[in-house]
Amino acid sequence: MTTNAELSNATTLPAAWYGADPHIWESERRAIFGREWLMVGRTEELPEPGSYLTDIIAGWPIFVIRDRDGILRAFHNVCRHRAGPILWDGQGHCDVLRCRYHGWVYDTKGSLRRTPEFGDAAGFDKQDFGLFPIQAGIWRGHIFVNLDAAASPLNQAMAPLSVETVDFPIETYRFHSHAEHEIACNWKTYVDNYSEGYHIKAMHPGLDQEIESNQYQVIIKDRHAVHRAPQRDGANYSGLWLWRFPNLALNIYPKGMNIERIVPMGPHRTKLIYNFYFQDTSDRGQKAITSALAAALQVTQEDARICEAVQRNLDAGLYDTGRLSPRHEGGVWHFQKLVRESLTTAA
Ligand code: FES
Ligand SMILES: [Fe+2]
Repeated sequence: MTTNAELSNATTLPAAWYGADPHIWESERRAIFGREWLMVGRTEELPEPGSYLTDIIAGWPIFVIRDRDGILRAFHNVCRHRAGPILWDGQGHCDVLRCRYHGWVYDTKGSLRRTPEFGDAAGFDKQDFGLFPIQAGIWRGHIFVNLDAAASPLNQAMAPLSVETVDFPIETYRFHSHAEHEIACNWKTYVDNYSEGYHIKAMHPGLDQEIESNQYQVIIKDRHAVHRAPQRDGANYSGLWLWRFPNLALNIYPKGMNIERIVPMGPHRTKLIYNFYFQDTSDRGQKAITSALAAALQVTQEDARICEAVQRNLDAGLYDTGRLSPRHEGGVWHFQKLVRESLTTAA
């Protein structure tokens, strides 16, 4: 890891940024989650025209739907009448985008088509009341959205990760399962923890037996980081752990992968969403799958426990800021720097 003067002088983000200060949460919603490309699912979840999924991006309910031409379109899940939902939360199939509240109908391009029994409101023109659009795109089989209409294209944003993952045929991995864990902490408490291997020895005894945690490296790139650690048995670790700002982690192995989203649900609530994929999902592959899932669960439970305890201490009002290990916490510094930069640029 590069040690630099900035890192060796760095202090952590102030404790109040982890939920206590409501302005920070509001700023992050707009400056980070309102601007970045964020993964919301897999293309196979929207197989045909009319297939949809909903999500909530840092408080903004959205949906993605495949239109008649097969193109993915995304919108805020908010009717322009009185803010009703167009789709109930979840996934499914829908031929007509009809608001659940009073039945206004939109087409899949978001234009308002019908307003049943509305009457004659003065100067009302349907053209002024289309759904609020969002950008949608596909990267290596995964659906991303961006709430910012002026954001750079997804391919450009993901180009560095396309280079990192070039040797891994991730499209050939088959989706196996999905897991969600709710943690009582700010999303940054979890990302800070994800961004260093310093805690492995103390917090993850099982993982510590597999990898040389004192040689855990976090290689900082522009808006992502690559994590590496040699295996204890001397074998070169052949997987790739990637983290991308603000909240995506790709844990890729030669025969499988786990894509992890760290989803902010509120200033003090975070949902981890894991998608597990394996190359061999046959009976033969089951044993390896079972042990990979068990290992992931174990590590998640250990991380959840420490993150919740840290969050409680951040909220208590005693601790404010700390210092970062130049040897082990370059990833934390990098993440916190990106957070600070995003909020400053937006201010
Ligand atoms: S809120 Fe959508 S039709 Fe009334
Ligand atoms: Fe951990």
